[in-house]
Amino acid sequence: MVVCVCNAIKEKDLRAAVRDGYDKPSKVYAQLGRKPKCGQCLSFARTIIESEVATA
Ligand code: FES
Repeated sequence: MVVCVCNAIKEKDLRAAVRDGYDKPSKVYAQLGRKPKCGQCLSFARTIIESEVATA
């Protein structure tokens, strides 16, 4: 599933970055070499990050 349309960030990429220790959208996106643009995805990205942190 694509989480961030602007940057074509997929859920699996997001979860992998969280497992590497990044715990905020801005950090995760930076780790992926991208940065938020429209911001529409941030709430959803936070939800995924929280769920990944909770299962770590
Ligand atoms: S959808 Fe992620 S910045 Fe626009």
